[in-house]
Amino acid sequence: MKILKILRKTYFKLTYSLLHYLVKDDVQVMGWPGIEDHINIQNDLINKVKFKPTDVVLDLGCGTGLTTKRLSPMVKSIIGVDNCQGMLIRARKNTKNCSNAKIVYSEGRELPFKNNQFTRVICYSVFNYLAGLDEAKLLIQEMIRVSRQGAIIFIGEILNSKKKKIIALSEHIEASGLRVKGLGWLHSIVAAIVYHLLAWYDPIDLMNFCKELDVKGVVLSREKPLLYINETFDFLINI
Ligand SMILES: C[S@@+](CC[C@H](N)C(=O)[O-])C[C@H]1O[C@@H](n2cnc3c(N)ncnc32)[C@H](O)[C@@H]1O
Repeated sequence: MKILKILRKTYFKLTYSLLHYLVKDDVQVMGWPGIEDHINIQNDLINKVKFKPTDVVLDLGCGTGLTTKRLSPMVKSIIGVDNCQGMLIRARKNTKNCSNAKIVYSEGRELPFKNNQFTRVICYSVFNYLAGLDEAKLLIQEMIRVSRQGAIIFIGEILNSKKKKIIALSEHIEASGLRVKGLGWLHSIVAAIVYHLLAWYDPIDLMNFCKELDVKGVVLSREKPLLYINETFDFLINI
């Protein structure tokens, strides 16, 4: 089981590095079918996490930095962190005109920051690529460590093991591939195949884990499904 978890993590890490060389599109290299979907994701995130001009933000698993770039004019400063060098090359390019943004290489579970640094921590579509629940717990602990009193941590697009079901390839293609240009069709086929390899979580496990920690509150949310995978949940932690 442990070997499987390590294999899964290594597989996704290698895939992201390889995709960086193969795929030109900054959105598709992160696994999203198209820019419209990504803008919807950003809007949903902005809606749920109320950003303020005084906010010091950490974007954990920033990918190619598109969300980091979008948030940069809304906040005091923002740091994008990722553990894939290929993504960071793109993130640095995409944020080169954002004077308050910085891009840093790091593993999510060992962040190179002091305690109580950030007022907002966002971590979107990252948990599915971790080794599993144990690593998810380490990331949550680390996010809490670097957050100030009153901060909000947003963990988005977590796959819900309670709703796991077999999704037919045709469903993926119909839902995403046929309505996007470029490599959308390829994305939907790959997504259907790797769907079962991803890390899935029971929301109650994560909720109970957070309640054991020193946090003010934890909220599960997802008002409407965003992409082709609609079995996901979001998680807001109030520090
Ligand atoms: C699907 S992309 C999401 C990117 C971005 N957050 C977004 O919403 O578009 C997942 C990103 O998480 C990064 N990632 C996965 N595991 C990580 C970890 N343990 N520490 C840091 N980054 C990680 C990957 O390298 C990849 O860039």
